[in-house]
Amino acid sequence: MNMLKAIEKRRSVRTFTEAPLSADELAQIDRAIASARNPLGGNFTIRRAHFGDGGVKSPGSYGLIKGATDWLMLAVAPGDNDAMAAGFTLEQIVLNLTEIGLGTCWIGGTFKSGDFADFKDWPEGQKLEIVVPFGYSAGTRLLERIERLAARSDSRKPFVRLFFDNDFATPLDENSSFGKSLAAVRPAPSSLNSQPWRALVKGDTVHFYSSMHRRMSLFDMGIALCHFKAGEEAHGYDGAFFTGSEAPTAPDGWRYIMSYTRKKETDV
Ligand SMILES: Cc1cc2nc3c(=O)[nH]c(=O)nc-3n(C[C@H](O)[C@H](O)[C@H](O)COP(=O)(O)O)c2cc1C
Repeated sequence: MNMLKAIEKRRSVRTFTEAPLSADELAQIDRAIASARNPLGGNFTIRRAHFGDGGVKSPGSYGLIKGATDWLMLAVAPGDNDAMAAGFTLEQIVLNLTEIGLGTCWIGGTFKSGDFADFKDWPEGQKLEIVVPFGYSAGTRLLERIERLAARSDSRKPFVRLFFDNDFATPLDENSSFGKSLAAVRPAPSSLNSQPWRALVKGDTVHFYSSMHRRMSLFDMGIALCHFKAGEEAHGYDGAFFTGSEAPTAPDGWRYIMSYTRKKETDV
């Protein structure tokens, strides 16, 4: 899959055609679920649900979502790393769906868990926290356009306010080698388009911070790490995530999340 192309192309889709997906597409999605990589560990489960046949009540037409018959469901344990790892992993599947021409929308706050009650046998300690409707986009309804305007979904914070070089006062050069990989983070989806991702580059290491403290922001951070890693791989770099005590203390209101050290060319 060309992850960078999928990252550029993806936008949240909330209106679907109800056209059934082919067996081939569903098989591809199941393969994407089974093969998604997860370097962060964590305790979570991702499953696919189909509504509409056999009298199962469809959650496809409430609130902002219309016409969705197929959904991904993410059940997660309560730990912070569980949410981040789950975000990292589910976003890869979302990008796979984007690549095969399907629309998606992460839904965290606004679904009724009762609508998914038929799928409640989650492993001990996990709870359904995110659902993602997917299918063919049916264009954008007025309501959806209003939602996009309200959430300012099409605006992204400038690169220089998100990513820093060596200290928190110096913006990172977008054309530096880490700058190119971090550029893949800006188009990422985030809850309420809050874009909580911040990063500080120090030599061969990037320290990630979140400017928000909500549970949903942990999913946002996992998604951001997934995009960053896709950027690294697209530019031919490998490296590893870790949490370390040497990360510089975050400015007021930010919270340290995780670090990444790039392998030296000779290690790759
Ligand atoms: C963790 C998470 C939770 C979200 N929850 C909702 C939601 O409950 N309802 C909704 O309509 N959109 C939700 N979104 C979608 C965001 O509003 C959307 O990603 C953001 O506005 C940016 O727009 P874009 O995805 O089209 O780039 C969520 C996104 C994320 C990452």
